[in-house]
Amino acid sequence: MSGSEPMPVPSAADPPRYVRTPTIRFLASIDVDRALARADLAGSIAHAEMLERVGLLTADERAAIVGGLRSIGREIAEGTFAWEPDLEDVHTNIEVALTRRIGPIGGKLHTARSRNDQIALDERLYLRAAVRDLAGALLRIEEILLRRSVEEARTAFAGYTHLQRAQPITLGHHLLAHFWRLDRDLDRLYATARRANVSPLGAGALAGSTLPIDPTGPAARLGFDRPFENSVDAVSDRDPFAELVFDLALLAVHLSSIGEELVLWSSAEFGFIRPTPVLGGGSSLMPQKQNPDVPELVRARAARVVGDLVALLTMLKGLPLAYDRDLQEDKGPTFRAVATTLETLGALAAVLDGIEFDRERIRAAARDPQLLATDAAEALVTRGVPFRRAHEAVGSGTAEVDPAGRAPIPVEPFARRSSPGAPGAIDAQIALARTRLASRAESLSSIARLVAAVDELVEEKGT
Ligand code: ARG
Repeated sequence: MSGSEPMPVPSAADPPRYVRTPTIRFLASIDVDRALARADLAGSIAHAEMLERVGLLTADERAAIVGGLRSIGREIAEGTFAWEPDLEDVHTNIEVALTRRIGPIGGKLHTARSRNDQIALDERLYLRAAVRDLAGALLRIEEILLRRSVEEARTAFAGYTHLQRAQPITLGHHLLAHFWRLDRDLDRLYATARRANVSPLGAGALAGSTLPIDPTGPAARLGFDRPFENSVDAVSDRDPFAELVFDLALLAVHLSSIGEELVLWSSAEFGFIRPTPVLGGGSSLMPQKQNPDVPELVRARAARVVGDLVALLTMLKGLPLAYDRDLQEDKGPTFRAVATTLETLGALAAVLDGIEFDRERIRAAARDPQLLATDAAEALVTRGVPFRRAHEAVGSGTAEVDPAGRAPIPVEPFARRSSPGAPGAIDAQIALARTRLASRAESLSSIARLVAAVDELVEEKGT
Protein backbone atom coordinates (compact mmCIF):
# COMPACT_ATOMS: atom_id res chain seq x y z
CA MET A 1 0.00 0.00 0.00
CA SER A 2 1.29 3.45 -0.79
CA GLY A 3 1.16 5.92 2.06
CA SER A 4 -1.78 8.19 1.21
CA GLU A 5 -4.51 5.85 -0.06
CA PRO A 6 -6.48 4.14 2.68
CA MET A 7 -6.69 0.35 2.34
CA PRO A 8 -10.23 -0.86 1.52
CA VAL A 9 -11.72 -2.55 4.57
CA PRO A 10 -13.35 -5.88 3.63
CA SER A 11 -16.65 -6.73 5.24
CA ALA A 12 -16.46 -9.09 8.20
CA ALA A 13 -18.98 -11.28 6.41
CA ASP A 14 -16.65 -12.03 3.46
CA PRO A 15 -16.03 -15.77 3.61
CA PRO A 16 -12.38 -16.78 3.88
CA ARG A 17 -10.99 -18.21 0.67
CA TYR A 18 -8.88 -21.34 0.57
CA VAL A 19 -6.95 -21.94 -2.57
CA ARG A 20 -7.41 -25.38 -4.07
CA THR A 21 -4.71 -26.66 -6.34
CA PRO A 22 -4.64 -29.87 -8.39
CA THR A 23 -1.72 -31.06 -6.27
CA ILE A 24 -3.50 -30.63 -2.95
CA ARG A 25 -3.01 -34.29 -2.04
CA PHE A 26 0.70 -33.92 -2.59
CA LEU A 27 0.83 -30.80 -0.46
CA ALA A 28 -1.33 -32.19 2.31
CA SER A 29 0.23 -33.30 5.57
CA ILE A 30 -2.97 -33.89 7.51
CA ASP A 31 -2.53 -37.66 7.77
CA VAL A 32 0.67 -37.08 9.70
CA ASP A 33 0.23 -33.74 11.45
CA ARG A 34 -3.24 -34.40 12.87
CA ALA A 35 -1.30 -35.99 15.71
CA LEU A 36 -0.49 -32.40 16.67
CA ALA A 37 -4.14 -31.38 17.10
CA ARG A 38 -4.06 -31.00 20.88
CA ALA A 39 -0.89 -28.98 20.79
CA ASP A 40 -2.36 -26.83 18.03
CA LEU A 41 -5.53 -26.15 20.04
CA ALA A 42 -3.57 -25.28 23.17
CA GLY A 43 -1.38 -22.88 21.18
CA SER A 44 -4.45 -21.25 19.65
CA ILE A 45 -6.14 -20.81 23.01
CA ALA A 46 -3.03 -19.22 24.51
CA HIS A 47 -2.73 -17.00 21.41
CA ALA A 48 -6.38 -15.86 21.64
CA GLU A 49 -5.91 -14.99 25.32
CA MET A 50 -2.90 -12.89 24.41
CA LEU A 51 -4.83 -11.13 21.61
CA GLU A 52 -7.48 -10.17 24.14
CA ARG A 53 -4.91 -8.93 26.64
CA VAL A 54 -3.31 -6.58 24.10
CA GLY A 55 -6.70 -5.33 22.87
CA LEU A 56 -6.88 -7.15 19.52
CA LEU A 57 -9.89 -9.26 20.61
CA THR A 58 -12.77 -8.34 22.89
CA ALA A 59 -13.55 -10.60 25.83
CA ASP A 60 -16.60 -11.91 23.96
CA GLU A 61 -14.62 -12.65 20.82
CA ARG A 62 -11.98 -14.46 22.83
CA ALA A 63 -14.66 -16.46 24.64
CA ALA A 64 -16.32 -17.45 21.34
CA ILE A 65 -13.00 -18.50 19.82
CA VAL A 66 -11.82 -20.45 22.88
CA GLY A 67 -15.24 -22.11 23.25
CA GLY A 68 -15.20 -23.12 19.59
CA LEU A 69 -11.67 -24.50 19.85
CA ARG A 70 -12.60 -26.56 22.91
CA SER A 71 -15.65 -28.03 21.18
CA ILE A 72 -13.38 -29.02 18.28
CA GLY A 73 -11.02 -30.54 20.85
CA ARG A 74 -13.81 -32.67 22.28
CA GLU A 75 -14.77 -33.97 18.83
CA ILE A 76 -11.17 -34.79 18.00
CA ALA A 77 -10.82 -36.66 21.30
CA GLU A 78 -14.02 -38.59 20.63
CA GLY A 79 -12.94 -39.33 17.08
CA THR A 80 -15.97 -37.60 15.54
CA PHE A 81 -14.16 -34.62 14.02
CA ALA A 82 -14.32 -34.69 10.22
CA TRP A 83 -10.78 -34.16 8.96
CA GLU A 84 -10.66 -32.85 5.39
CA PRO A 85 -7.57 -33.74 3.37
CA ASP A 86 -8.36 -30.87 1.00
CA LEU A 87 -7.66 -28.50 3.85
CA GLU A 88 -4.02 -29.51 3.78
CA ASP A 89 -2.94 -29.60 7.39
CA VAL A 90 -4.02 -29.65 11.02
CA HIS A 91 -3.87 -25.86 11.33
CA THR A 92 -6.18 -25.14 8.41
CA ASN A 93 -8.59 -27.94 9.33
CA ILE A 94 -9.03 -26.51 12.81
CA GLU A 95 -9.25 -22.88 11.69
CA VAL A 96 -11.83 -23.60 8.98
CA ALA A 97 -13.90 -25.71 11.40
CA LEU A 98 -13.76 -22.87 13.91
CA THR A 99 -15.00 -20.29 11.42
CA ARG A 100 -17.80 -22.59 10.28
CA ARG A 101 -18.82 -22.98 13.89
CA ILE A 102 -18.59 -19.45 15.26
CA GLY A 103 -18.73 -17.36 12.09
CA PRO A 104 -16.35 -14.69 10.78
CA ILE A 105 -15.00 -13.95 14.29
CA GLY A 106 -13.08 -17.21 13.82
CA GLY A 107 -11.05 -15.38 11.20
CA LYS A 108 -9.58 -13.17 13.95
CA LEU A 109 -7.70 -16.06 15.56
CA HIS A 110 -4.93 -15.98 13.00
CA THR A 111 -4.16 -12.31 13.77
CA ALA A 112 -0.39 -11.80 14.04
CA ARG A 113 0.23 -15.50 13.54
CA SER A 114 1.44 -17.65 10.69
CA ARG A 115 1.39 -21.39 10.23
CA ASN A 116 5.15 -21.02 10.38
CA ASP A 117 5.31 -20.03 14.04
CA GLN A 118 2.26 -22.21 14.69
CA ILE A 119 3.89 -25.45 13.50
CA ALA A 120 7.13 -24.62 15.32
CA LEU A 121 5.11 -24.19 18.51
CA ASP A 122 3.08 -27.37 18.00
CA GLU A 123 6.24 -29.38 17.51
CA ARG A 124 7.74 -28.17 20.79
CA LEU A 125 4.58 -29.05 22.69
CA TYR A 126 4.55 -32.45 20.98
CA LEU A 127 8.19 -32.99 21.94
CA ARG A 128 7.46 -32.29 25.59
CA ALA A 129 4.70 -34.91 25.69
CA ALA A 130 6.84 -37.37 23.73
CA VAL A 131 9.71 -36.98 26.20
CA ARG A 132 7.27 -37.61 29.04
CA ASP A 133 6.15 -40.90 27.44
CA LEU A 134 9.65 -41.98 26.45
CA ALA A 135 11.08 -41.14 29.86
CA GLY A 136 8.33 -43.17 31.53
CA ALA A 137 9.13 -46.20 29.38
CA LEU A 138 12.86 -45.78 29.86
CA LEU A 139 12.53 -45.39 33.62
CA ARG A 140 10.60 -48.64 33.72
CA ILE A 141 13.51 -50.45 32.01
CA GLU A 142 16.00 -48.82 34.36
CA GLU A 143 13.95 -50.02 37.34
CA ILE A 144 13.85 -53.57 36.00
CA LEU A 145 17.59 -53.56 35.27
CA LEU A 146 18.32 -52.28 38.76
CA ARG A 147 16.06 -54.88 40.39
CA ARG A 148 17.69 -57.70 38.45
CA SER A 149 21.16 -56.29 39.16
CA VAL A 150 20.43 -56.38 42.88
CA GLU A 151 19.26 -60.02 42.55
CA GLU A 152 22.43 -60.90 40.62
CA ALA A 153 24.81 -58.58 42.45
CA ARG A 154 26.96 -61.55 43.57
CA THR A 155 26.37 -63.98 40.74
CA ALA A 156 29.92 -64.62 39.49
CA PHE A 157 30.06 -63.85 35.78
CA ALA A 158 32.77 -64.04 33.15
CA GLY A 159 33.35 -60.51 31.88
CA TYR A 160 34.09 -60.46 28.14
CA THR A 161 36.19 -58.32 25.84
CA HIS A 162 36.28 -59.13 22.12
CA LEU A 163 33.61 -61.66 23.08
CA GLN A 164 36.37 -63.68 24.78
CA ARG A 165 36.38 -64.44 28.49
CA ALA A 166 38.48 -61.73 30.13
CA GLN A 167 38.08 -60.96 33.84
CA PRO A 168 35.74 -61.87 36.68
CA ILE A 169 32.76 -59.63 37.23
CA THR A 170 29.19 -60.32 38.35
CA LEU A 171 26.02 -60.54 36.35
CA GLY A 172 24.65 -57.63 38.38
CA HIS A 173 27.67 -55.49 37.50
CA HIS A 174 27.18 -56.28 33.82
CA LEU A 175 23.46 -55.43 33.93
CA LEU A 176 24.24 -52.18 35.70
CA ALA A 177 26.52 -51.21 32.80
CA HIS A 178 23.37 -51.19 30.66
CA PHE A 179 21.58 -49.23 33.38
CA TRP A 180 24.10 -46.37 33.26
CA ARG A 181 24.06 -46.24 29.47
CA LEU A 182 20.31 -45.96 29.42
CA ASP A 183 20.46 -43.41 32.19
CA ARG A 184 22.58 -41.18 29.96
CA ASP A 185 19.95 -41.61 27.25
CA LEU A 186 17.32 -40.44 29.70
CA ASP A 187 19.47 -37.49 30.72
CA ARG A 188 19.86 -36.55 27.03
CA LEU A 189 16.09 -36.64 26.54
CA TYR A 190 15.58 -34.33 29.52
CA ALA A 191 18.27 -31.96 28.23
CA THR A 192 16.61 -31.95 24.80
CA ALA A 193 13.26 -31.10 26.39
CA ARG A 194 14.88 -28.35 28.46
CA ARG A 195 16.58 -26.74 25.43
CA ALA A 196 13.35 -27.02 23.41
CA ASN A 197 11.34 -25.25 26.09
CA VAL A 198 11.33 -21.89 24.27
CA SER A 199 8.15 -20.59 22.63
CA PRO A 200 8.32 -19.59 18.92
CA LEU A 201 4.80 -18.08 19.00
CA GLY A 202 4.85 -14.43 17.94
CA ALA A 203 7.56 -14.91 15.30
CA GLY A 204 4.79 -14.82 12.68
CA ALA A 205 5.81 -15.85 9.19
CA LEU A 206 9.40 -14.79 9.98
CA ALA A 207 9.35 -11.12 11.00
CA GLY A 208 7.04 -10.73 13.98
CA SER A 209 4.14 -8.32 13.57
CA THR A 210 3.21 -4.65 13.19
CA LEU A 211 0.54 -5.30 15.83
CA PRO A 212 1.33 -4.85 19.54
CA ILE A 213 1.58 -8.56 20.38
CA ASP A 214 3.24 -9.95 23.52
CA PRO A 215 5.00 -13.30 23.00
CA THR A 216 5.71 -13.65 26.74
CA GLY A 217 2.01 -14.24 27.49
CA PRO A 218 1.49 -17.47 25.51
CA ALA A 219 5.02 -18.59 26.43
CA ALA A 220 4.17 -18.46 30.13
CA ARG A 221 0.68 -19.89 29.66
CA LEU A 222 2.10 -22.93 27.86
CA GLY A 223 4.83 -23.57 30.41
CA PHE A 224 7.77 -22.40 28.29
CA ASP A 225 10.81 -20.87 29.99
CA ARG A 226 10.77 -17.84 27.67
CA PRO A 227 9.83 -16.70 24.15
CA PHE A 228 12.25 -16.85 21.18
CA GLU A 229 15.04 -14.30 20.79
CA ASN A 230 14.95 -13.99 16.98
CA SER A 231 11.87 -14.35 14.76
CA VAL A 232 13.80 -15.77 11.77
CA ASP A 233 15.52 -18.37 13.94
CA ALA A 234 12.24 -19.21 15.67
CA VAL A 235 10.49 -20.35 12.47
CA SER A 236 13.58 -22.12 11.06
CA ASP A 237 14.79 -23.99 14.10
CA ARG A 238 14.27 -27.75 13.96
CA ASP A 239 17.07 -28.53 16.42
CA PRO A 240 14.53 -29.88 18.93
CA PHE A 241 13.40 -32.62 16.54
CA ALA A 242 16.94 -33.32 15.32
CA GLU A 243 18.15 -33.68 18.91
CA LEU A 244 15.19 -35.83 19.88
CA VAL A 245 15.69 -38.23 16.99
CA PHE A 246 19.44 -38.38 17.63
CA ASP A 247 18.74 -39.18 21.29
CA LEU A 248 16.43 -41.96 20.13
CA ALA A 249 18.89 -43.27 17.54
CA LEU A 250 21.61 -43.60 20.18
CA LEU A 251 19.11 -45.14 22.59
CA ALA A 252 18.10 -47.61 19.86
CA VAL A 253 21.76 -48.51 19.36
CA HIS A 254 22.06 -49.18 23.09
CA LEU A 255 18.88 -51.26 23.09
CA SER A 256 20.17 -53.24 20.12
CA SER A 257 23.26 -54.08 22.12
CA ILE A 258 21.08 -55.47 24.91
CA GLY A 259 19.12 -57.38 22.25
CA GLU A 260 22.32 -58.88 20.87
CA GLU A 261 23.47 -60.06 24.28
CA LEU A 262 20.10 -61.65 24.99
CA VAL A 263 20.31 -63.45 21.64
CA LEU A 264 23.80 -64.75 22.46
CA TRP A 265 22.98 -65.67 26.03
CA SER A 266 19.92 -67.67 25.00
CA SER A 267 21.92 -69.79 22.53
CA ALA A 268 22.84 -73.33 23.57
CA GLU A 269 26.52 -72.32 23.36
CA PHE A 270 26.15 -69.74 26.14
CA GLY A 271 23.04 -71.11 27.84
CA PHE A 272 22.91 -68.16 30.28
CA ILE A 273 19.19 -67.63 29.68
CA ARG A 274 16.63 -70.44 29.75
CA PRO A 275 14.55 -70.87 26.59
CA THR A 276 11.18 -69.62 27.86
CA PRO A 277 8.30 -68.14 25.84
CA VAL A 278 9.02 -64.59 27.10
CA LEU A 279 11.80 -64.47 24.49
CA GLY A 280 9.39 -64.80 21.59
CA GLY A 281 7.88 -67.57 19.53
CA GLY A 282 8.85 -71.02 18.41
CA SER A 283 9.73 -72.24 14.94
CA SER A 284 6.90 -73.22 12.60
CA LEU A 285 9.02 -76.16 11.44
CA MET A 286 11.39 -77.24 14.22
CA PRO A 287 9.45 -78.39 17.28
CA GLN A 288 12.39 -78.00 19.68
CA LYS A 289 12.99 -74.28 18.99
CA GLN A 290 12.41 -71.36 21.29
CA ASN A 291 13.71 -68.42 19.32
CA PRO A 292 14.79 -65.10 20.82
CA ASP A 293 12.49 -63.20 18.45
CA VAL A 294 11.88 -60.21 20.69
CA PRO A 295 15.58 -59.47 21.35
CA GLU A 296 16.26 -59.98 17.62
CA LEU A 297 13.61 -57.44 16.68
CA VAL A 298 14.89 -55.04 19.34
CA ARG A 299 18.30 -55.39 17.69
CA ALA A 300 16.79 -54.74 14.25
CA ARG A 301 14.58 -51.80 15.21
CA ALA A 302 17.64 -49.61 15.61
CA ALA A 303 17.88 -49.63 11.82
CA ARG A 304 14.58 -47.81 11.53
CA VAL A 305 15.43 -45.11 14.05
CA VAL A 306 18.90 -44.51 12.62
CA GLY A 307 17.16 -44.25 9.22
CA ASP A 308 14.75 -41.67 10.65
CA LEU A 309 17.67 -39.60 11.90
CA VAL A 310 19.40 -39.73 8.51
CA ALA A 311 16.14 -38.74 6.77
CA LEU A 312 15.65 -35.78 9.07
CA LEU A 313 19.19 -34.44 8.92
CA THR A 314 19.32 -34.91 5.15
CA MET A 315 16.09 -32.97 4.73
CA LEU A 316 17.46 -30.11 6.87
CA LYS A 317 20.82 -29.95 5.15
CA GLY A 318 21.35 -26.87 3.02
CA LEU A 319 18.00 -25.20 3.73
CA PRO A 320 18.14 -21.42 3.72
CA LEU A 321 16.87 -19.69 6.84
CA ALA A 322 13.21 -19.09 7.66
CA TYR A 323 10.38 -21.42 6.70
CA ASP A 324 10.80 -23.71 3.69
CA ARG A 325 8.15 -26.23 2.80
CA ASP A 326 10.75 -28.99 3.09
CA LEU A 327 10.28 -28.58 6.84
CA GLN A 328 6.88 -30.21 6.57
CA GLU A 329 8.78 -33.48 6.09
CA ASP A 330 10.26 -33.33 9.60
CA LYS A 331 7.22 -34.88 11.24
CA GLY A 332 7.15 -38.32 9.59
CA PRO A 333 10.62 -39.43 10.70
CA THR A 334 10.23 -37.87 14.14
CA PHE A 335 6.83 -39.39 14.90
CA ARG A 336 7.99 -42.75 13.57
CA ALA A 337 11.15 -42.68 15.67
CA VAL A 338 9.11 -41.93 18.79
CA ALA A 339 6.55 -44.66 18.05
CA THR A 340 9.20 -47.25 17.21
CA THR A 341 11.15 -46.46 20.36
CA LEU A 342 8.09 -46.64 22.62
CA GLU A 343 7.12 -50.02 21.19
CA THR A 344 10.66 -51.33 21.46
CA LEU A 345 11.07 -50.16 25.06
CA GLY A 346 7.78 -51.83 26.00
CA ALA A 347 8.75 -55.17 24.46
CA LEU A 348 12.25 -55.14 25.92
CA ALA A 349 10.90 -54.30 29.38
CA ALA A 350 8.71 -57.41 29.25
CA VAL A 351 11.70 -59.56 28.27
CA LEU A 352 14.06 -58.14 30.89
CA ASP A 353 11.37 -58.56 33.50
CA GLY A 354 10.60 -62.16 32.58
CA ILE A 355 13.80 -63.89 31.47
CA GLU A 356 15.21 -66.65 33.65
CA PHE A 357 18.94 -66.70 34.16
CA ASP A 358 20.58 -70.12 34.38
CA ARG A 359 22.89 -69.33 37.30
CA GLU A 360 24.64 -72.70 37.08
CA ARG A 361 25.70 -72.14 33.47
CA ILE A 362 26.67 -68.56 34.28
CA ARG A 363 28.81 -69.61 37.28
CA ALA A 364 30.39 -72.45 35.32
CA ALA A 365 31.68 -69.98 32.71
CA ALA A 366 32.93 -67.74 35.52
CA ARG A 367 34.96 -70.61 37.00
CA ASP A 368 37.36 -70.56 34.03
CA PRO A 369 40.79 -70.09 35.70
CA GLN A 370 41.98 -68.05 32.70
CA LEU A 371 39.82 -65.23 34.02
CA LEU A 372 42.30 -64.85 36.88
CA ALA A 373 45.39 -64.20 34.77
CA THR A 374 45.33 -60.45 35.44
CA ASP A 375 44.79 -61.14 39.14
CA ALA A 376 47.93 -63.32 39.13
CA ALA A 377 49.94 -60.56 37.46
CA GLU A 378 48.60 -58.03 39.97
CA ALA A 379 49.61 -60.39 42.81
CA LEU A 380 53.17 -60.28 41.46
CA VAL A 381 52.92 -56.47 41.40
CA THR A 382 52.15 -56.46 45.13
CA ARG A 383 55.46 -58.29 45.55
CA GLY A 384 57.32 -55.49 43.73
CA VAL A 385 57.43 -56.96 40.19
CA PRO A 386 56.93 -54.28 37.50
CA PHE A 387 53.54 -54.86 35.86
CA ARG A 388 54.99 -55.38 32.35
CA ARG A 389 57.21 -58.21 33.61
CA ALA A 390 54.38 -59.75 35.63
CA HIS A 391 52.17 -59.65 32.52
CA GLU A 392 54.83 -61.43 30.51
CA ALA A 393 55.49 -64.04 33.18
CA VAL A 394 51.81 -64.94 33.54
CA GLY A 395 51.27 -64.82 29.78
CA SER A 396 54.16 -67.15 29.02
CA GLY A 397 53.16 -69.52 31.82
CA THR A 398 56.33 -69.05 33.84
CA ALA A 399 54.17 -67.75 36.72
CA GLU A 400 51.22 -69.70 38.04
CA VAL A 401 47.72 -68.41 37.42
CA ASP A 402 47.17 -68.15 41.11
CA PRO A 403 46.46 -64.64 42.25
CA ALA A 404 47.33 -65.19 45.89
CA GLY A 405 50.64 -67.02 45.37
CA ARG A 406 50.36 -70.32 47.26
CA ALA A 407 46.91 -69.53 48.67
CA PRO A 408 43.90 -71.27 47.05
CA ILE A 409 41.87 -69.30 44.50
CA PRO A 410 39.13 -67.49 46.42
CA VAL A 411 35.56 -68.52 45.70
CA GLU A 412 34.51 -65.04 44.62
CA PRO A 413 37.39 -63.47 42.69
CA PHE A 414 35.22 -60.52 41.59
CA ALA A 415 34.95 -59.46 45.24
CA ARG A 416 38.64 -58.65 45.40
CA ARG A 417 38.21 -56.15 42.54
CA SER A 418 36.94 -53.51 44.90
CA SER A 419 38.42 -50.41 43.29
CA PRO A 420 35.86 -47.61 42.71
CA GLY A 421 33.22 -48.59 40.15
CA ALA A 422 34.52 -52.16 39.97
CA PRO A 423 32.42 -55.31 40.54
CA GLY A 424 33.64 -55.72 44.12
CA ALA A 425 32.26 -52.26 44.94
CA ILE A 426 28.79 -53.06 43.62
CA ASP A 427 26.95 -52.10 46.80
CA ALA A 428 28.07 -48.49 46.47
CA GLN A 429 27.10 -48.57 42.80
CA ILE A 430 23.63 -49.88 43.62
CA ALA A 431 23.14 -47.11 46.17
CA LEU A 432 24.14 -44.54 43.53
CA ALA A 433 21.76 -46.07 41.00
CA ARG A 434 18.88 -45.88 43.47
CA THR A 435 19.50 -42.19 44.15
CA ARG A 436 19.81 -41.52 40.44
CA LEU A 437 16.51 -43.24 39.68
CA ALA A 438 14.71 -41.20 42.32
CA SER A 439 15.94 -37.92 40.86
CA ARG A 440 15.06 -39.05 37.32
CA ALA A 441 11.52 -39.85 38.47
CA GLU A 442 11.27 -36.36 39.97
CA SER A 443 12.30 -34.75 36.68
CA LEU A 444 9.68 -36.84 34.93
CA SER A 445 6.98 -35.55 37.29
CA SER A 446 7.85 -31.95 36.52
CA ILE A 447 7.66 -32.57 32.75
CA ALA A 448 4.38 -34.46 33.25
CA ARG A 449 2.96 -31.50 35.19
CA LEU A 450 3.73 -29.14 32.27
CA VAL A 451 2.07 -31.54 29.81
CA ALA A 452 -0.98 -31.85 32.06
CA ALA A 453 -1.32 -28.07 32.37
CA VAL A 454 -1.42 -27.74 28.55
CA ASP A 455 -4.02 -30.54 28.36
CA GLU A 456 -6.14 -28.73 30.91
CA LEU A 457 -6.03 -25.57 28.82
CA VAL A 458 -7.73 -27.50 26.02
CA GLU A 459 -10.13 -29.23 28.38
CA GLU A 460 -11.54 -26.06 29.91
CA LYS A 461 -10.19 -26.77 33.39
CA GLY A 462 -7.58 -24.09 32.89
CA THR A 463 -9.99 -21.18 32.23
N1 ARG B 1 2.00 -28.04 7.18
C1 ARG B 1 3.09 -27.14 7.32
C2 ARG B 1 4.26 -27.86 7.98
O1 ARG B 1 4.06 -28.87 8.54
C3 ARG B 1 2.69 -26.00 8.18
C4 ARG B 1 3.39 -24.73 7.85
C5 ARG B 1 3.03 -24.29 6.50
N2 ARG B 1 3.53 -22.98 6.23
C6 ARG B 1 3.52 -22.53 4.98
N3 ARG B 1 3.96 -21.34 4.79
N4 ARG B 1 3.13 -23.26 3.97
O2 ARG B 1 5.39 -27.44 7.92
